Amino acid sequence: MIILGIETSCDETAAAILEQKNGRIQILSNIVASSASLQSKYGGIIPEQAAREQLKSIIPVIEESLQIAGIKHQALDAIAITEGPGLMGSLLVGVETVKVLAKMWGKPLIPVNHLVGHFYANWIGEDTPTFPCIGLLVSGGHTDLVLFKSHGEYEYLGGTRDDAAGECFDKSARLLGLPYPGGPEISKLAKGGDPTLFNLPRPLIESKDFDFSFSGLKTAVHNLLPDVPKSKYSDFAATIEAAIIDCLVDKTVKAVKTKGVEQIIVAGGVAANKALVERLEVAAKEVGVRLFVPPPYLCTDNGAMIASAAFFLSPTSDINKVQANPNLSLST
Ligand code: KG4
Ligand code: ZN
Repeated sequence: MIILGIETSCDETAAAILEQKNGRIQILSNIVASSASLQSKYGGIIPEQAAREQLKSIIPVIEESLQIAGIKHQALDAIAITEGPGLMGSLLVGVETVKVLAKMWGKPLIPVNHLVGHFYANWIGEDTPTFPCIGLLVSGGHTDLVLFKSHGEYEYLGGTRDDAAGECFDKSARLLGLPYPGGPEISKLAKGGDPTLFNLPRPLIESKDFDFSFSGLKTAVHNLLPDVPKSKYSDFAATIEAAIIDCLVDKTVKAVKTKGVEQIIVAGGVAANKALVERLEVAAKEVGVRLFVPPPYLCTDNGAMIASAAFFLSPTSDINKVQANPNLSLST
């Protein structure tokens, strides 16, 4: 079974070809064209510009994915596409392109929720999770905790009430004068910094639910910044990173204990953060559960995770009904 997965929800145009053989999913090709460096000039994403870049890249990226995989489109069993959430203009480019391809090539089309797709990066390769497991999604726009019961069946436990963890990284980075995307920049600057030198809040860390809140933390960063000398920026970045990580790790452990599961799966761009993964590893060991985190290149947006999810989903019964949906979430 061979699936082409396409992802165009934001500023990455991505196509990947994955094969499922003897129950194991492996990557034949994984192409990602990013307009992040262009967005970086403006300190964030301009939706119309992101969509225009998607238009430029979509066909070359699909062609390259077939070429690298060493197959022709005839060998595909299905096409998978991110239907949402994301930026409307960016989503439309991918969705409308694959509708045409699926009809022209006579292939089934499998729509995938981008957020569910992120989790499925964990099902690529040999050692994959089993159910039930706690899923922590940490991306640029979402921070959610879910209890996965089986493929396609999950219970929403909680999520951010305002900003996402990635957004908090990005906005803090911007305040510090660092380029977009800010997560990797804060992480680099934080290396060797003292995370105890400044005092930043851990919003909702004591709350009994599984919710997060990061906008207050961002405001605290803004308010404290004038008192931080440039020579202490590394310590300040380490403090910001530690505050975000504390909130994420605490609530994840709480979910594990409450639901009595034996595995944690992590997904989304912020899961590429080394300090977060190290802290989760320690926490998982302490509570005696297994931790699954995809390699960094499968944490940020890519087509492989979309194709991987599609192996466990059904094709649409009517290609015409597949629509870009910017408002999809995990909670609805
Ligand atoms: O999942 P993703 O690639 O796109 C969305 O679906 O949003 O996540 C992007 C987010 C950005 O906020 C970016 O700053 C963050 O992931 N990110 C990181 C790291 N790499 C990417 N945050 C912290 N540390 C990193 N190493
Ligand atoms: Zn994403």
